[in-house]
Amino acid sequence: MAYLLCLFSIIFASELSFCACDVGDFTPCLQFFYRSWPSKGLSGTPVCQRYNNQYRFASLYSRPRRSPWFSAYVYGVPLGKRPAASWKYEPQLAYPEANGNMALFPPGPLDPTVVESQAVEPDYINSSYTRGHLNPCLHHQLHEDRISTFTLTNVVPQKSGSNDGPWETLEQSVNKTLAAYCVGKAYIVTGVMPYKQKEHWIKNKRVAVPEYLWSAYCCPQFNNSLPQHLRSAFPTYAAIGRNDRNSTEEIVPINKSAKKQFLGYDVRQMTLETLEMYLKQRFNTVVSVFYEKCMESK
Ligand SMILES: *[C@@H]1O[C@H](CO)[C@@H](O)[C@H](O)[C@H]1NC(C)=O
Ligand SMILES: *[C@@H]1O[C@H](CO)[C@@H](O)[C@H](O)[C@H]1NC(C)=O
Ligand SMILES: *[C@@H]1O[C@H](CO)[C@@H](O)[C@H](O)[C@H]1NC(C)=O
Ligand SMILES: *[C@@H]1O[C@H](CO)[C@@H](O)[C@H](O)[C@H]1NC(C)=O
Ligand SMILES: *[C@@H]1O[C@H](CO)[C@@H](O)[C@H](O)[C@H]1NC(C)=O
Repeated sequence: MAYLLCLFSIIFASELSFCACDVGDFTPCLQFFYRSWPSKGLSGTPVCQRYNNQYRFASLYSRPRRSPWFSAYVYGVPLGKRPAASWKYEPQLAYPEANGNMALFPPGPLDPTVVESQAVEPDYINSSYTRGHLNPCLHHQLHEDRISTFTLTNVVPQKSGSNDGPWETLEQSVNKTLAAYCVGKAYIVTGVMPYKQKEHWIKNKRVAVPEYLWSAYCCPQFNNSLPQHLRSAFPTYAAIGRNDRNSTEEIVPINKSAKKQFLGYDVRQMTLETLEMYLKQRFNTVVSVFYEKCMESK
């Protein structure tokens, strides 16, 4: 019931913010978007990702795809080692009255209501796809923020050639660039592009596979003494990565001399404008990742 009210309040009065729920409304987690302005153009179910009674990041979830359209978060310089993964789910997607914290899967058989409402671990096991974080553990400082990224509403089916190859290299290079030259907060949004014609699904037809992943950051306050190769990387920068080696090369060309296991999983770095052009083509609607393209201070 609360969920329905939530939906209605979004449909009929999107400016009103009386809805107290964490599913269906970004109001409690606007701090993860630059200027408190959630990325526009895509429709889905907003999830304020809460772990241990604190909001950690925000995801726009697609119930029919059982995977997110994007996750939005604030970058933190990482400290320490990657925590061991223990996967969580979002009880509120199944039970609107649940308390809003992500939860570990309880031992024993899975609750069918949970299984119906979202992806569960067996969806990914033996699927030939890894669980690709949109909001990666690597971009966070606090241990609990890192742990909170291991939730299935923050991952998409990603080929290991991408996840362990060029996409990981991108996450690391964004980490180095922001740690070195971003002076204030860096807001990051990472999302997916679906196949143009026919939707792809992992084996049991429950979770949709994206053709591409994309990512963009907005760092309005940066160190002005940038090295030459990073001059175009501020205040905003973006990338698109292949998740299917069979895709055509119109959006992201293939580097034929890449190592065999990474061949066809290239990442192309680009401006935010170029990314938004491809998003517009693919979604047939204007997609705005950041308020005023992150350029209002200029
Ligand atoms: C995955 O594949 C392995 C080896 O084929 C098999 O032993 C295991 O039961 C499978 N697990 C699931 C959840 O399908
Ligand atoms: C992320 O950046 C920090 C700061 O430069 C660095 O210490 C750390 O090693 C980087 N992590 C990775 C995995 O590249
Ligand atoms: C800006 O970058 C330069 C060169 O890397 C460095 O010497 C300087 O300390 C940085 N300034 C700030 C405010 O981070
Ligand atoms: C790519 O093409 C090969 C050969 O046609 C096929 O076996 C494979 O399943 C395709 N991969 C995807 C992800 O569609
Ligand atoms: C292609 O990949 C090779 C091997 O990783 C690398 O040395 C080269 O710089 C890459 N070329 C381009 C244009 O990215």
